Amino acid sequence: MSKSIFRKKSVEKILHDVECGFGDGEHPGTTTSQLKKELNVRDLTLMGIAAVVGAGIFSTIGEASFQGGPGVSILFVITAITCGFSALCYAEFASRIPVAGSAYTYAYASFGELIAWIIGWDLLMEYAIGNIAVAISWSTYFVNFLEGFKIHLPRYLYTDYFTVFRAHEDVVQFTASNQLSKITDVMRENAAAWDSAPGFGSLKLVANLPALLIVIIITYLVYIGIRETKKATNAMVYLKIAIVLAVIVIGFFYVTPANWHPFLPNGFGGVMKGVSGVFFAYIGFDAISTTAEECERPQRDLPRGMIYSLVICTVLYVLISLVLTGMVSYKELQVGDPLAFVFAKVGLHNISYVISISAVIATASVLLIFQLGQPRIWMSMSRDGLLPKVFSRIHPKYQTPSFSTIVTGFVVAVPALFLNLTVVTDLTSIGTLFAFVLVCGGVLLLPREEAAKGKFHLPYINSQWIAPVIYIIVLVLCWNNFLGLFSGENIHQKFPFFLFILLSTTLTVLAVIKKLSLIPVLGLLSCFYLMAELTYDSWIRFLIWLIIGLVIYFTYSYKNSVIGKEAAAKTK
Ligand code: ALA
Repeated sequence: MSKSIFRKKSVEKILHDVECGFGDGEHPGTTTSQLKKELNVRDLTLMGIAAVVGAGIFSTIGEASFQGGPGVSILFVITAITCGFSALCYAEFASRIPVAGSAYTYAYASFGELIAWIIGWDLLMEYAIGNIAVAISWSTYFVNFLEGFKIHLPRYLYTDYFTVFRAHEDVVQFTASNQLSKITDVMRENAAAWDSAPGFGSLKLVANLPALLIVIIITYLVYIGIRETKKATNAMVYLKIAIVLAVIVIGFFYVTPANWHPFLPNGFGGVMKGVSGVFFAYIGFDAISTTAEECERPQRDLPRGMIYSLVICTVLYVLISLVLTGMVSYKELQVGDPLAFVFAKVGLHNISYVISISAVIATASVLLIFQLGQPRIWMSMSRDGLLPKVFSRIHPKYQTPSFSTIVTGFVVAVPALFLNLTVVTDLTSIGTLFAFVLVCGGVLLLPREEAAKGKFHLPYINSQWIAPVIYIIVLVLCWNNFLGLFSGENIHQKFPFFLFILLSTTLTVLAVIKKLSLIPVLGLLSCFYLMAELTYDSWIRFLIWLIIGLVIYFTYSYKNSVIGKEAAAKTK
């Protein structure tokens, strides 16, 4: 067996496997790809938009606007540029390796097996953990929607256990210590939910049932086939774009330009506090790369689909953020349903209600795409022997990865019943940014290739002189942060920024020596910069997640790797 944890799967081998079948190390070519080739560039663009426009623009934009003021629109542009670099790198990979698996497959070809495993494990955060966040957000809007029909669900059936339990504890404590002013309305409602929930002692029935319900429905749709998924996605996304455009156009007439002053009320630091929420809003354009084997012409259409969907979403987001912060003061936007909230605030209650309904549809389509993506990543990992074989089993009738789809359903549905939204959003953002960092880094390791007709080709721009200039500009802009690295309290909290300085210095030196391609260099640096802006706690959770993944790799995947077994068979 090839002992190296950096053993690579060559691009030729990846393409050969798809053409001729996947082996198990001893029996090559025993399983051929049986996925239906149904998707064209229009479907892919729509799927991209379906995955991107969701809980982020309907929910997390509220907190980001509250922190950054109208200047949050700048963060949407910065994040879009960062995602743009990554999309171009994804596109380069998707064009060279048009098979399912996304960044995982790309990392296998460029960095080798261990990093591929890490990225596959990490993508679980983007797709499955991200979907937990989306399911929780969906549930909130769904409850609003039911309220419109005068159907009132008890709060303990649509809130997570810990939020309600903590509220109960806080209310008891504040009441006992006579600090009644510290009890907020939401805290009081959650504590009341705890009191009214059936059960005994601390064993109470408190769970987010609508979140569970939507994950079951979506998993079923994904299970029965790509054709059905495509139809459902296309229908949902048209409606979603129409509603977002309506918000922009109608909202524009209710903008009070005075709300845009000051544009940066909390400075650039305030804007950057919204990184996690704003980045979350962009997550998803890369998800379409997991459907490569279901595309008619993946090398041409996947890159286009990714880039078109990113451009369309950026325009919509920047306009929405300006309309939102123009309609009411940014100080009022710390709400979970900001788009509906601003219209209610200016007296347009019907429109506010329509927005709540559309949020239910918008977030459901995000769920659909991510539930579609996750099983396909597991399928690829299983074909490579890094996960048990059952994960790549294709349903004989529906031709979808049946077992992986069901497992994804469980992995998302069960935590969605109990987990808290903020924690899962932060984890999703840091995990996805890390995946982007590896994809950009992977492109730097690919051998240069001549442009070929009908295939996307990442333009080569020599970074030898541009990278140092950018490095100096960034250092000057971050000078205060840089000096702060070595002084003040809580030095450990500056660990992410320290890593960023270390990485950017190393990369700049390499750019000068090796004349690296500029776009992946900028992609890598900008993604890592956004990662460095995330909280220390998110980093710690992320590192724990990675350690769990490494334990699984060394106890199971390393021994069962197909590449490892094939190498061992050759040396016998
Ligand atoms: N971008 C996706 C959303 O906002 C994850 O829901």
